[in-house]
Amino acid sequence: MNLLQSVRDKAAKAGKRIVLAEGEEERSVRAAREIADAKIAKITLIASEAVLKSKYSDVSLKGIDVFDPNREALGKYIDVLYNLRKDKGVDHDEAARLVKDPLYLAALMVQCGDADGMVAGAINSTGNVLRPALQIIKTSPGISTVSSCFIMIMPKGKSGDGEVLVFGDCAVVPNPSATQLAAIAVSTAASAKSIAGLTPRVAMLSFSTKGSAKHELVDKVVEATRIAKQLAPELAIDGELQADAALVESVGKLKSPDSAVAGAANVLIFPDLQSGNIGYKLVQRLAGAEAIGPICQGLNKPVNDLSRGCSVEDIVNVTAMTVPQAI
Ligand code: ACO
Repeated sequence: MNLLQSVRDKAAKAGKRIVLAEGEEERSVRAAREIADAKIAKITLIASEAVLKSKYSDVSLKGIDVFDPNREALGKYIDVLYNLRKDKGVDHDEAARLVKDPLYLAALMVQCGDADGMVAGAINSTGNVLRPALQIIKTSPGISTVSSCFIMIMPKGKSGDGEVLVFGDCAVVPNPSATQLAAIAVSTAASAKSIAGLTPRVAMLSFSTKGSAKHELVDKVVEATRIAKQLAPELAIDGELQADAALVESVGKLKSPDSAVAGAANVLIFPDLQSGNIGYKLVQRLAGAEAIGPICQGLNKPVNDLSRGCSVEDIVNVTAMTVPQAI
């Protein structure tokens, strides 16, 4: 069975509720129908029911909850937001204004347990989706940095674990410190295991392999590798490695003969967001890989972002991926 089908099947057994914040946007509405029909999750759309009925008369809302912020009581959410953010200068009026923003409202619904996870980003930037989540849901205990990964399903098998690679971070932390990069590596390995079912072999990527180049950018990756090994001593992790040394067996053996990861990596950690974002898009567009994500990691409850070019199918898949994070 392929990865997506197994994630969908796993999600269907969990009975979790996911809120789609952009509930009046066409792809989200059509995805909600597909998710409800396939029983992947229970869905709440933040939307006006009247707008949905007039704009999408061909889409049945049977079995889908619609939460209309202009008609429902919002007092509980205003109080929660005010209490969370008052030390940051948010007064009661500001909290009342912010909860009308569907991205804040959805994050508050997750925080209050009225939904198990949130998906948005079809019409909002990554920053706008993540900011309310960072402010309201915050990080998991023991995790300081929220980051993201992409599950890359390759058109032809290359990894021993079944044609799946996991890339991090390609969407959240623009210029991670060594400590943040180590956290990204550990979180991405955990996502690779829990979502993609991989036994992670983590390569800390650079333009240098084991001292072949000297530069402060390489030093950061070396230091991040050291910290990550301390954080997760049981994890197979190695660096710094060039991409070919990480992925190609013959090159890995030549450049890093004693490494358990070189030549066999299935989790690739990019040194910053420029390389990570460019890297995943190149593999997606030039190699024809299916890129699922960005899947956020490190938040206390799951929130996932969509690309603005996403399809209905992408929303269904990201929603299915959100469910295991909520279990
Ligand atoms: N981990 C944990 N906490 C964080 C993180 C993080 N990575 N980033 C910010 N925070 C915290 C801040 O400390 C702050 O906490 P506080 O308000 O309680 O003190 C809170 O979150 C909000 O911080 P802001 O300063 O308002 O948010 P910021 O402007 O730093 O934005 C964001 C954070 C949105 C993640 C930013 O780093 C960003 O825009 N990243 C790039 C997103 C992007 O454009 N990605 C590329 C495209 S995605 C794609 O191609 C699919």
